[in-house]
Amino acid sequence: MADPFLIGDAMSGGYGSGPDILHGCTIAVEKGQIAVIVGPNGAGKSTAMKAVFGMLNVRDGAVRLAGEDITGLTPQARVAKGMGFVPQTSNIFTSMTVEENLEMGAFLRRDDIMTTIEQVYDLFPILRNKRNQAAGELSGGQRQQVAVGRALMTQPKVLMLDEPTAGVSPIVMDELFDRIIEVARTGISILMVEQNARQALEIADKGYVLVQGRNAFAGTGQDLLADPEVRKSFLGG
Ligand SMILES: Nc1ncnc2c1ncn2[C@@H]1O[C@H](COP(=O)(O)OP(=O)(O)O)[C@@H](O)[C@H]1O
Ligand SMILES: [Mg+2]
Repeated sequence: MADPFLIGDAMSGGYGSGPDILHGCTIAVEKGQIAVIVGPNGAGKSTAMKAVFGMLNVRDGAVRLAGEDITGLTPQARVAKGMGFVPQTSNIFTSMTVEENLEMGAFLRRDDIMTTIEQVYDLFPILRNKRNQAAGELSGGQRQQVAVGRALMTQPKVLMLDEPTAGVSPIVMDELFDRIIEVARTGISILMVEQNARQALEIADKGYVLVQGRNAFAGTGQDLLADPEVRKSFLGG
């Protein structure tokens, strides 16, 4: 069977010389689809994202993008290959303006970035109004828009988001999910960690439940939402 577009395949590894956090963990996403990773705090969701992005030594297993083994590549080389990553924390430059944040996101590009900036403003119109405001003055939801917009500036083929809706209201969460669906419809794959498990699985083509660095459940979003064990243990019944 052909590989998914992006796959972290049976990854094991941890931080520095510390113990393994991931134990044969597999996460993957197909072209233009949305894959969602859920699981309890400390399960290793962020660690798995870092492993896929090259910020962790993968001791065993591999990461492949479009069939190519990229396990040995630096994060910057992965960006050049078409990967964008929005980490869980410190994902914007608060003292810079919204537009400067977007410009920083395009640091690897040598071509004209104005068209992409306009595309980000079309996706998130509020950012156009606030383009000259310091990003740190924005609301939580608007900051997350800046973070996602910044990652889109490299025109990625796959966008990795670690808890993009952390700390925002349910309405803002719904809006952000709608925008993420819109991005996926343009053909960009989305690999996303979410603590709003139920809502995220609703929009997921594929879902993963991680527990203690291992895959506990995997299936379509609808499969997981319907699974009695997943519901009882991870979705609050
Ligand atoms: N930079 C780090 N150095 C050492 N251990 C870490 C680091 N970041 C996370 N961990 C440990 O890795 C485990 C998984 O954490 P994490 O991947 O952040 O979980 P999650 O994102 O699912 O809440 C935890 O035990 C955590 O303490
Ligand atoms: Mg995390």
